[in-house]
Amino acid sequence: MKNVAVIGSQWGDEGKGKIVDWLSNKADIIIRFQGGHNAGHTLVIDGTTYKLRLLPSGIVRKNKISIIGNGVVIDPWALLEEIKEIKSKGVEVTPKNLIISETANLILPFHKEMDEMREDLAKKEKIGTTRRGIGPAYEDKVGRRGIRLMDLASEKNLENRLANALSHHNLIRKGMGKQIFQNDNLKKDLLKVAPEILKYAQPVWKIIDEYRSKEKKILFEGAQGVLLDVDHGTYPYVTSSNTVASSAATGSGCGPNSINYILGITKAYTTRVGEGPFPTELKDQIGEHLGNIGKEFGTVTSRKRRCGWLDGVLVRQSIRISGINGIALTKLDVLDELDNIKMCIAYDLNGNKIDYLPSTLEDQLKIKPIYKTFEGWKTSTQGIKDFKNLPINAQKYLKEVEKFIGVKISSISTSPERNDTILIEDPFNF
Ligand code: IMP
Repeated sequence: MKNVAVIGSQWGDEGKGKIVDWLSNKADIIIRFQGGHNAGHTLVIDGTTYKLRLLPSGIVRKNKISIIGNGVVIDPWALLEEIKEIKSKGVEVTPKNLIISETANLILPFHKEMDEMREDLAKKEKIGTTRRGIGPAYEDKVGRRGIRLMDLASEKNLENRLANALSHHNLIRKGMGKQIFQNDNLKKDLLKVAPEILKYAQPVWKIIDEYRSKEKKILFEGAQGVLLDVDHGTYPYVTSSNTVASSAATGSGCGPNSINYILGITKAYTTRVGEGPFPTELKDQIGEHLGNIGKEFGTVTSRKRRCGWLDGVLVRQSIRISGINGIALTKLDVLDELDNIKMCIAYDLNGNKIDYLPSTLEDQLKIKPIYKTFEGWKTSTQGIKDFKNLPINAQKYLKEVEKFIGVKISSISTSPERNDTILIEDPFNF
């Protein structure tokens, strides 16, 4: 049996949508296990574009089970809106093909407001969040005052849970000089949408266990990337969940031994949205070029992404931390026109050469990348499907990347089209 986890190895936006779509075609079950509607996966299938935020990518395919695990935070209205949107494109969404964990925590309007108020007040210190309420919802989860999906099933219970969470939030709001949150309509509004969401609720751990015993293939679909992991990323400029592969187990309710192959998605250069350290960032024409050719604008917030060279040190670190078995390299074609291509292979910190990202923010902002430079190939790689048809300089570059990061490049993506992929190793069949 082979179950695969797909995660981003950089700061998200590595082009997971296309790879996950390709893999979800082979899987029986597709599970989201962390994050929320801060994620944005774009799928293009038979000319139709689907923009998914919370729903697993399997939803657009027939005969697949899509699961939202307990590790995901769910904004009920955003979920229902997304379901409506996807249904309007002819996709079927029923309790037969969508299952949501009963214990997933909810993002409520006061979480979103808290996220926004904090970002607005923070000025220079702001994280640059997606302002969706992700952080405050996870805080309430670990603070044990969160409201979970099944809390919607009982009015009395919901009332108690809301009162408890709001007593905490209102204290903070008062301290921030903001109005307290008016609870009057929230319970009513939640009870109104409850049946529409509760119909999907199930004990997900049990379902996974049943599917595993039937040897069904599971795809665990990560969101964001390892460098945004709350423990292992560029803290505090991170998201509030664990984005590493091991989170697939805790975020869905199975053991780590349920994951047989971990695929890391790596863009041939680096991008980041929001604030925070970015050692290989290019604030010059090359950075602009990467952004324009790579269409680097956020799917969720439409923000312009910061662009820079591939940071081999960071990708290698993500691989080690997450146990990545192989990487899917995306957007190789974006490098096609460049004279030279660089990869960061070490950092200079106060005159010392180091081969990993230092832990403190101060040092992360101070380090200078040390690059290895490669000659560009100056010819189109778009649509190439066989490694040996790539220009020699591109082959050399890829071999060096592979050697440096220490795992196999299992596939190379040469255009946004699903079929424009050089497949070297199939994660479901390796
Ligand atoms: P939050 O997840 O909204 O709290 O945002 C925290 C940080 O993670 C910000 O820098 C966001 O830009 C970043 N972030 C969150 N989700 C994504 C994503 O799906 N792709 C890329 N960056 C993300």
